[in-house]
Amino acid sequence: MNADEMKKQAAWAALEYITTDGVVGVGTGSTVNHFIDALATIKHRIEGAVSSSHASTQRLKDYGIEVFDLNQVNEVAVYVDGADESNHALQLIKGGGGALTREKIIAAVADKFVCIADSSKLVDVLGKFPLPVEVIPMSRSYVAREIVKLGGQPVYREGVITDNGNVILDVHGLDIMEPIKLEKTLNDIVGVVTNGLFAMRPADVLLLGSENGTQTVLASK
Ligand code: A5P
Repeated sequence: MNADEMKKQAAWAALEYITTDGVVGVGTGSTVNHFIDALATIKHRIEGAVSSSHASTQRLKDYGIEVFDLNQVNEVAVYVDGADESNHALQLIKGGGGALTREKIIAAVADKFVCIADSSKLVDVLGKFPLPVEVIPMSRSYVAREIVKLGGQPVYREGVITDNGNVILDVHGLDIMEPIKLEKTLNDIVGVVTNGLFAMRPADVLLLGSENGTQTVLASK
């Protein structure tokens, strides 16, 4: 079974968490694309969706699923999204697809965050996957210098403009032993919009597609 088949398996397993008549939070990426395909099969059971990117919005609309502005919605019962890495506390690195800011906003609003991924994404220590940081364009060099002081090696993701009109630095070389502390430290750098650490608001459930079926992982204390 290849990684995409494992992603698909996890994505379909997430249907079990969808509440009837609710608004579903939808993330971004190749795993989420499988989830949107799955969600379309039960679209009559949901009120609609809120989406973390133009790409997901388009895919949802193509299936005839209504997409609401987050400001129109009082409650998001469940948010389903992928990840680039998860540790055993279900703290994540996200943003490989560049949608981290909107993803973090919907995750903050949601009652339950269900992360879907293939088994390669579960790691002991976060940081092998370069940590995406979305920054206001004019602050890019300043933020990069500050990140170097923290021990990271920022690389400008050339040619990429986020849905919010900003740019991304991918930070290599971090062994993230204290994810919450680093998330807060990066947030404090002027010019940073969001960083891809989801540690203050981790996932509640991780569905991992694997050779042996989908594993349900809950945060270890
Ligand atoms: C999008 O910005 C990301 O946070 C994705 O959720 C993450 O990159 C996982 O992507 P895949 O599902 O494509 O592996």
